[in-house]
Amino acid sequence: MRVVERVERIKPFYVMEFLEIAKAKEKEGIDIIHMEVGEPDFDVSKEIKEKAHEGIEKNIFHYTHSLGMVELREAISEYYRNVEGLYVSPERIIITSGTSGAFLLLFLCLLDQTKTLVFSDPGYPCYRNLAILCGSKILPIPVDEKTNYMITPESLEAFGAKPDVLVLASPSNPTGTVYTEEIIREVYEYLKEGGGILIVDEIYKDLIYDCEIKTALSISDEIIVVNGFSKTHAMTGFRVGWMVVPSHLVKPIQKCSQNVFICPPSISQYAALCAFSSKEQLLAVKKEFKRRRDFLVKELLSLGFSIPYLPQGAFYIYAGIEKWKMDSMDFCRRALSEAHVAITPGYDFGDYQAQTHVRFSYAQKMDKIEEGTKRLKAWLKTIT
Ligand SMILES: Cc1ncc(COP(=O)(O)O)c(C=O)c1O
Repeated sequence: MRVVERVERIKPFYVMEFLEIAKAKEKEGIDIIHMEVGEPDFDVSKEIKEKAHEGIEKNIFHYTHSLGMVELREAISEYYRNVEGLYVSPERIIITSGTSGAFLLLFLCLLDQTKTLVFSDPGYPCYRNLAILCGSKILPIPVDEKTNYMITPESLEAFGAKPDVLVLASPSNPTGTVYTEEIIREVYEYLKEGGGILIVDEIYKDLIYDCEIKTALSISDEIIVVNGFSKTHAMTGFRVGWMVVPSHLVKPIQKCSQNVFICPPSISQYAALCAFSSKEQLLAVKKEFKRRRDFLVKELLSLGFSIPYLPQGAFYIYAGIEKWKMDSMDFCRRALSEAHVAITPGYDFGDYQAQTHVRFSYAQKMDKIEEGTKRLKAWLKTIT
């Protein structure tokens, strides 16, 4: 029996395929520099580890409340108060199985075959794929350096977009774009006029290097914000995230959550209770990522890559490979097999200019990044 059409329509994550090929090469004894995956290279803090151990000792193994542990929802409310000076009621905070879980629940509640999800191209691929799995129509909006890779009301108008739901990430994956408060406000107003809903993915919000920006929740209670512990706290495998939603959406989302997940993972929620206390680690991590970004941008530019927009956050550089007149899939395959450097082709993030772009992740130790650029330099000489 064939799988249904909506599954046929979604693309695999090329980054995972490249990772698997890279891992197979490593098994053969080949040393690979990984700049493909978006996973922090540092470990979770001592506090988080100790809390996870404590959770095991205390037998925190049972189902929790379907909306998440009350203590964690309160801790997140406290985080908004401390960091943003904003009161967010714990009642509007829903804990999820990673931010991926949040997106699935939101799309299940907000999208169907009569609705359209709008997102940027390039953009994080799961928005598109989850929307397709939910039976929704999709409208990718091509973005480039002219708007610093931001969706704007003008670009929405140009595409005649009437979004039921629009999702944007700030900072974004793969371009590291940080939306200005002004643009988020304008996009929100544009959507409001047509009865659309704005979701802002703030998973990289605490990894912004050159500017300060407030959460989109400070613009309106009607904006949905998704965030999580994976990137900032290196808790990718714990699978815990959260969303803040308008009060009227809590019940419908809860109903879906009970059926799909029952609850988010208990030990992970318990460990996350300590995540906000490790402020020094976060500051050190931010400083280190900025150092890597500055180094890698400079090196890539000198090698001939084009980087028209300096990424302001997250840990990615979206670089143009126009100079080598090679398709990005071939470029990445050859970089892996000939230079032993793993990077991600633009095709993972959409169609627009995908053939001329690749993504570098600098969530990798500095000495590896240095080695990676040396290898690329030597390899690029052989193809120019
Ligand atoms: C923009 C963005 N949102 C969401 C996620 C999903 O993160 P998680 O499900 O681990 O919270 C990722 C992961 O790479 C991402 O880049």
